[in-house]
Amino acid sequence: MSTLKGKDILHGNQFTKKEIEAILKVASQFEKELKQRGSIPLLKGRILATLFFEPSTRTRLSFETAMQRLGGGVIGMGSVEGSSVAKGETLIDTIQTVSQYADVIVLRHPRTGSAREAADATAIPIINAGDGAGQHPTQALLDIYTIRKELGTLKNLTISLVGDLKNGRTVHALVEVLSLFQAKLYFVSPESLRMPGEITSTLREKGIEVIETEDMLEAGRMSDLIYMTRIQKERFTDLSEYEKVKGSFVIDQTFLDQVKKKITILHPLPRVDEIHPEIDSYPGAAYFRQVKNGVYVRMALLAMIFGKR
Ligand code: CP
Repeated sequence: MSTLKGKDILHGNQFTKKEIEAILKVASQFEKELKQRGSIPLLKGRILATLFFEPSTRTRLSFETAMQRLGGGVIGMGSVEGSSVAKGETLIDTIQTVSQYADVIVLRHPRTGSAREAADATAIPIINAGDGAGQHPTQALLDIYTIRKELGTLKNLTISLVGDLKNGRTVHALVEVLSLFQAKLYFVSPESLRMPGEITSTLREKGIEVIETEDMLEAGRMSDLIYMTRIQKERFTDLSEYEKVKGSFVIDQTFLDQVKKKITILHPLPRVDEIHPEIDSYPGAAYFRQVKNGVYVRMALLAMIFGKR
Protein backbone atom coordinates (compact mmCIF):
# COMPACT_ATOMS: atom_id res chain seq x y z
CA MET A 1 0.00 0.00 0.00
CA SER A 2 1.27 3.47 -0.89
CA THR A 3 2.67 5.63 1.90
CA LEU A 4 0.87 8.52 0.18
CA LYS A 5 -2.61 7.18 1.04
CA GLY A 6 -4.69 10.01 2.52
CA LYS A 7 -1.71 12.40 2.50
CA ASP A 8 -1.53 16.07 1.55
CA ILE A 9 0.94 17.01 -1.20
CA LEU A 10 2.36 20.34 -0.07
CA HIS A 11 6.12 20.62 -0.54
CA GLY A 12 8.93 19.20 -2.66
CA ASN A 13 10.82 18.18 0.48
CA GLN A 14 8.11 15.85 1.79
CA PHE A 15 9.02 12.86 -0.38
CA THR A 16 11.51 10.10 0.29
CA LYS A 17 13.56 8.76 -2.61
CA LYS A 18 11.58 5.51 -2.33
CA GLU A 19 8.28 7.41 -2.67
CA ILE A 20 9.53 9.29 -5.72
CA GLU A 21 10.63 6.05 -7.33
CA ALA A 22 7.21 4.52 -6.56
CA ILE A 23 5.39 7.53 -8.11
CA LEU A 24 7.55 7.35 -11.24
CA LYS A 25 6.90 3.61 -11.54
CA VAL A 26 3.11 4.00 -11.26
CA ALA A 27 3.15 6.94 -13.69
CA SER A 28 5.12 4.87 -16.18
CA GLN A 29 2.61 1.99 -15.84
CA PHE A 30 -0.28 4.40 -16.45
CA GLU A 31 1.49 5.84 -19.48
CA LYS A 32 1.77 2.35 -20.96
CA GLU A 33 -1.80 1.39 -20.04
CA LEU A 34 -3.24 4.56 -21.57
CA LYS A 35 -1.75 3.55 -24.90
CA GLN A 36 -4.02 0.47 -24.80
CA ARG A 37 -7.21 2.09 -23.43
CA GLY A 38 -8.54 5.57 -22.78
CA SER A 39 -9.36 5.13 -19.12
CA ILE A 40 -8.27 3.18 -16.06
CA PRO A 41 -11.35 3.44 -13.81
CA LEU A 42 -9.79 3.10 -10.36
CA LEU A 43 -11.47 6.18 -8.85
CA LYS A 44 -15.11 5.76 -9.85
CA GLY A 45 -17.35 7.71 -7.48
CA ARG A 46 -14.51 9.93 -6.19
CA ILE A 47 -14.62 13.68 -6.74
CA LEU A 48 -11.71 16.07 -7.21
CA ALA A 49 -12.25 19.82 -6.70
CA THR A 50 -10.02 22.36 -8.41
CA LEU A 51 -9.72 25.70 -6.58
CA PHE A 52 -7.57 28.05 -8.62
CA PHE A 53 -7.14 31.57 -7.25
CA GLU A 54 -4.44 32.25 -9.87
CA PRO A 55 -4.44 31.53 -13.62
CA SER A 56 -3.48 28.08 -14.89
CA THR A 57 -3.68 26.08 -18.08
CA ARG A 58 -1.54 22.96 -17.56
CA THR A 59 -1.90 22.20 -13.87
CA ARG A 60 -5.63 22.56 -13.79
CA LEU A 61 -6.39 20.79 -17.06
CA SER A 62 -3.93 17.95 -16.42
CA PHE A 63 -5.41 17.28 -12.97
CA GLU A 64 -8.89 17.28 -14.51
CA THR A 65 -7.71 14.96 -17.29
CA ALA A 66 -5.96 12.69 -14.78
CA MET A 67 -9.06 12.36 -12.59
CA GLN A 68 -11.32 11.71 -15.57
CA ARG A 69 -8.93 9.12 -17.03
CA LEU A 70 -9.16 7.37 -13.64
CA GLY A 71 -12.96 7.37 -13.85
CA GLY A 72 -13.51 10.02 -11.17
CA GLY A 73 -15.48 13.26 -11.30
CA VAL A 74 -14.28 16.85 -11.24
CA ILE A 75 -15.84 20.01 -9.81
CA GLY A 76 -14.41 23.52 -9.92
CA MET A 77 -15.26 27.10 -9.05
CA GLY A 78 -14.77 28.40 -12.56
CA SER A 79 -13.34 31.82 -11.76
CA VAL A 80 -12.76 33.47 -8.39
CA GLU A 81 -15.03 36.32 -9.55
CA GLY A 82 -17.86 33.83 -10.13
CA SER A 83 -17.60 32.31 -6.63
CA SER A 84 -18.39 33.56 -3.12
CA VAL A 85 -14.72 34.51 -2.72
CA ALA A 86 -15.82 37.69 -4.56
CA LYS A 87 -18.20 38.38 -1.64
CA GLY A 88 -15.33 38.13 0.83
CA GLU A 89 -15.41 34.45 1.82
CA THR A 90 -12.12 33.40 3.37
CA LEU A 91 -9.87 30.67 2.02
CA ILE A 92 -10.51 28.54 5.10
CA ASP A 93 -14.31 28.82 4.80
CA THR A 94 -14.03 28.00 1.09
CA ILE A 95 -11.93 24.91 1.88
CA GLN A 96 -14.32 23.78 4.62
CA THR A 97 -17.26 24.21 2.23
CA VAL A 98 -15.69 22.41 -0.72
CA SER A 99 -14.64 19.58 1.63
CA GLN A 100 -18.35 18.79 2.02
CA TYR A 101 -18.53 18.01 -1.72
CA ALA A 102 -15.17 16.61 -2.75
CA ASP A 103 -12.75 13.82 -1.74
CA VAL A 104 -9.57 15.73 -2.68
CA ILE A 105 -8.83 19.42 -3.38
CA VAL A 106 -6.24 20.80 -5.79
CA LEU A 107 -5.45 24.35 -4.68
CA ARG A 108 -3.56 27.19 -6.36
CA HIS A 109 -3.36 30.41 -4.38
CA PRO A 110 -1.17 33.54 -4.51
CA ARG A 111 -0.09 33.36 -0.85
CA THR A 112 2.97 31.31 0.15
CA GLY A 113 1.91 28.88 2.87
CA SER A 114 -1.77 28.86 1.83
CA ALA A 115 -1.75 25.15 0.95
CA ARG A 116 -0.51 24.29 4.45
CA GLU A 117 -3.26 26.51 5.96
CA ALA A 118 -5.85 24.74 3.81
CA ALA A 119 -4.53 21.31 4.80
CA ASP A 120 -4.80 22.24 8.47
CA ALA A 121 -8.45 23.23 7.94
CA THR A 122 -9.74 19.97 6.45
CA ALA A 123 -9.46 16.22 6.80
CA ILE A 124 -9.45 15.56 3.04
CA PRO A 125 -6.16 15.65 1.11
CA ILE A 126 -4.98 19.01 -0.22
CA ILE A 127 -2.70 19.07 -3.26
CA ASN A 128 -0.64 22.23 -3.58
CA ALA A 129 -0.86 23.35 -7.22
CA GLY A 130 1.28 26.43 -6.49
CA ASP A 131 1.27 28.70 -3.43
CA GLY A 132 2.58 32.09 -4.51
CA ALA A 133 6.36 32.05 -4.86
CA GLY A 134 6.48 29.04 -2.54
CA GLN A 135 6.19 25.52 -3.91
CA HIS A 136 4.72 23.53 -6.81
CA PRO A 137 5.45 19.93 -5.80
CA THR A 138 3.43 18.09 -8.47
CA GLN A 139 5.30 20.05 -11.16
CA ALA A 140 8.56 18.83 -9.61
CA LEU A 141 7.35 15.23 -9.86
CA LEU A 142 6.40 15.55 -13.51
CA ASP A 143 9.71 17.30 -14.14
CA ILE A 144 11.73 14.48 -12.64
CA TYR A 145 9.64 11.93 -14.54
CA THR A 146 10.46 13.84 -17.73
CA ILE A 147 14.15 14.13 -16.89
CA ARG A 148 14.44 10.38 -16.34
CA LYS A 149 12.49 9.62 -19.50
CA GLU A 150 14.45 12.03 -21.68
CA LEU A 151 17.93 11.27 -20.31
CA GLY A 152 17.39 7.63 -19.29
CA THR A 153 18.73 8.21 -15.76
CA LEU A 154 18.64 10.50 -12.74
CA LYS A 155 22.22 9.72 -11.73
CA ASN A 156 25.22 12.04 -12.07
CA LEU A 157 23.39 14.75 -13.98
CA THR A 158 24.47 18.37 -14.32
CA ILE A 159 21.44 20.61 -14.54
CA SER A 160 21.14 24.37 -15.07
CA LEU A 161 18.09 26.11 -13.63
CA VAL A 162 17.70 29.45 -15.37
CA GLY A 163 15.58 32.57 -14.91
CA ASP A 164 13.53 33.78 -11.95
CA LEU A 165 14.90 31.56 -9.20
CA LYS A 166 13.69 33.95 -6.50
CA ASN A 167 9.99 33.73 -7.35
CA GLY A 168 9.84 30.47 -9.28
CA ARG A 169 7.88 27.92 -7.24
CA THR A 170 8.62 25.22 -9.81
CA VAL A 171 12.38 25.47 -9.25
CA HIS A 172 11.96 25.72 -5.47
CA ALA A 173 10.16 22.36 -5.52
CA LEU A 174 12.32 20.75 -8.19
CA VAL A 175 15.64 21.27 -6.40
CA GLU A 176 14.24 19.55 -3.31
CA VAL A 177 13.45 16.47 -5.40
CA LEU A 178 16.72 16.64 -7.37
CA SER A 179 18.67 16.75 -4.10
CA LEU A 180 17.65 13.12 -3.51
CA PHE A 181 19.52 12.13 -6.68
CA GLN A 182 22.80 14.01 -6.11
CA ALA A 183 22.57 16.20 -9.23
CA LYS A 184 25.13 18.98 -9.74
CA LEU A 185 23.22 22.25 -10.08
CA TYR A 186 23.93 25.57 -11.78
CA PHE A 187 21.66 28.39 -10.62
CA VAL A 188 21.58 31.00 -13.41
CA SER A 189 19.72 34.22 -12.67
CA PRO A 190 20.08 37.98 -12.53
CA GLU A 191 21.54 39.06 -9.16
CA SER A 192 18.12 40.37 -8.03
CA LEU A 193 16.40 37.03 -8.76
CA ARG A 194 18.80 34.59 -7.09
CA MET A 195 17.53 31.41 -5.48
CA PRO A 196 16.52 32.15 -1.87
CA GLY A 197 19.57 31.73 0.38
CA GLU A 198 17.89 29.23 2.71
CA ILE A 199 17.20 26.86 -0.20
CA THR A 200 20.77 27.09 -1.52
CA SER A 201 22.31 26.58 1.92
CA THR A 202 20.05 23.59 2.69
CA LEU A 203 21.12 21.98 -0.59
CA ARG A 204 24.81 22.54 0.20
CA GLU A 205 24.31 21.10 3.70
CA LYS A 206 22.95 17.98 1.99
CA GLY A 207 26.18 17.77 -0.04
CA ILE A 208 24.75 19.03 -3.32
CA GLU A 209 27.19 21.00 -5.48
CA VAL A 210 25.56 24.33 -6.36
CA ILE A 211 27.19 26.96 -8.59
CA GLU A 212 25.50 30.37 -8.80
CA THR A 213 26.19 32.45 -11.91
CA GLU A 214 24.72 35.03 -14.28
CA ASP A 215 26.42 33.37 -17.28
CA MET A 216 23.94 31.04 -18.99
CA LEU A 217 26.43 30.03 -21.67
CA GLU A 218 29.09 28.97 -19.16
CA ALA A 219 26.50 26.91 -17.25
CA GLY A 220 24.86 25.56 -20.41
CA ARG A 221 28.17 24.25 -21.76
CA MET A 222 28.58 22.13 -18.62
CA SER A 223 24.99 20.87 -18.47
CA ASP A 224 23.06 17.81 -19.60
CA LEU A 225 19.81 19.69 -19.20
CA ILE A 226 18.58 23.27 -18.95
CA TYR A 227 15.44 23.97 -16.97
CA MET A 228 14.30 27.36 -18.26
CA THR A 229 11.81 29.53 -16.36
CA ARG A 230 9.84 32.69 -16.99
CA ILE A 231 10.59 35.94 -15.16
CA GLN A 232 7.48 36.12 -12.96
CA LYS A 233 6.15 39.58 -13.79
CA GLU A 234 3.15 39.11 -11.48
CA ARG A 235 5.42 38.84 -8.41
CA PHE A 236 7.04 42.29 -8.92
CA THR A 237 5.63 45.14 -6.84
CA ASP A 238 7.77 47.62 -8.81
CA LEU A 239 7.39 47.04 -12.57
CA SER A 240 10.51 49.10 -13.30
CA GLU A 241 12.46 46.31 -11.57
CA TYR A 242 10.82 43.80 -13.92
CA GLU A 243 11.79 45.92 -16.93
CA LYS A 244 15.45 45.76 -15.81
CA VAL A 245 15.55 41.93 -15.86
CA LYS A 246 13.02 40.89 -18.51
CA GLY A 247 14.60 39.12 -21.46
CA SER A 248 17.78 38.45 -19.45
CA PHE A 249 18.10 34.90 -20.76
CA VAL A 250 16.95 33.55 -24.11
CA ILE A 251 17.53 30.13 -25.62
CA ASP A 252 17.74 30.41 -29.40
CA GLN A 253 19.63 28.63 -32.17
CA THR A 254 22.77 30.73 -31.59
CA PHE A 255 22.85 29.60 -27.97
CA LEU A 256 22.12 25.98 -28.88
CA ASP A 257 25.01 25.95 -31.36
CA GLN A 258 27.43 26.70 -28.50
CA VAL A 259 26.39 24.03 -25.96
CA LYS A 260 26.40 20.20 -25.78
CA LYS A 261 24.91 18.69 -28.93
CA LYS A 262 22.34 16.58 -27.11
CA ILE A 263 21.34 19.01 -24.38
CA THR A 264 17.75 18.64 -23.16
CA ILE A 265 15.60 21.74 -22.69
CA LEU A 266 12.69 21.77 -20.23
CA HIS A 267 10.36 24.58 -19.18
CA PRO A 268 7.32 24.36 -16.87
CA LEU A 269 5.55 26.81 -19.21
CA PRO A 270 4.01 29.23 -19.95
CA ARG A 271 6.96 30.86 -21.72
CA VAL A 272 7.11 34.50 -22.71
CA ASP A 273 10.30 35.15 -24.67
CA GLU A 274 12.87 32.95 -22.95
CA ILE A 275 12.75 30.10 -25.47
CA HIS A 276 12.60 31.13 -29.10
CA PRO A 277 9.97 29.14 -31.06
CA GLU A 278 12.72 28.19 -33.57
CA ILE A 279 13.93 25.77 -30.87
CA ASP A 280 10.63 23.86 -30.74
CA SER A 281 11.65 21.49 -33.54
CA TYR A 282 15.02 20.69 -31.91
CA PRO A 283 14.79 17.01 -30.74
CA GLY A 284 15.96 17.89 -27.22
CA ALA A 285 13.24 20.50 -26.75
CA ALA A 286 11.10 18.40 -24.42
CA TYR A 287 8.73 20.96 -22.91
CA PHE A 288 5.59 19.81 -24.69
CA ARG A 289 6.38 16.17 -23.85
CA GLN A 290 6.86 17.45 -20.29
CA VAL A 291 3.28 18.82 -20.42
CA LYS A 292 1.92 15.40 -21.43
CA ASN A 293 3.84 13.64 -18.66
CA GLY A 294 1.90 15.78 -16.19
CA VAL A 295 -1.18 13.66 -16.79
CA TYR A 296 0.56 10.34 -16.02
CA VAL A 297 2.26 11.68 -12.91
CA ARG A 298 -0.93 13.30 -11.57
CA MET A 299 -2.83 10.07 -12.26
CA ALA A 300 -0.21 8.23 -10.22
CA LEU A 301 -0.48 10.69 -7.35
CA LEU A 302 -4.28 10.54 -7.27
CA ALA A 303 -4.35 6.74 -7.42
CA MET A 304 -1.78 6.55 -4.60
CA ILE A 305 -3.56 9.15 -2.44
CA PHE A 306 -6.72 7.03 -2.70
CA GLY A 307 -4.77 3.86 -1.91
CA LYS A 308 -5.40 2.33 -5.33
CA ARG A 309 -1.72 1.84 -6.14
N1 CP B 1 3.47 24.70 -15.20
C1 CP B 1 2.37 25.31 -14.74
O1 CP B 1 2.14 25.41 -13.53
O2 CP B 1 1.55 25.79 -15.72
P1 CP B 1 0.16 26.51 -15.48
O3 CP B 1 0.43 27.80 -14.75
O4 CP B 1 -0.44 26.70 -16.83
O5 CP B 1 -0.68 25.59 -14.60
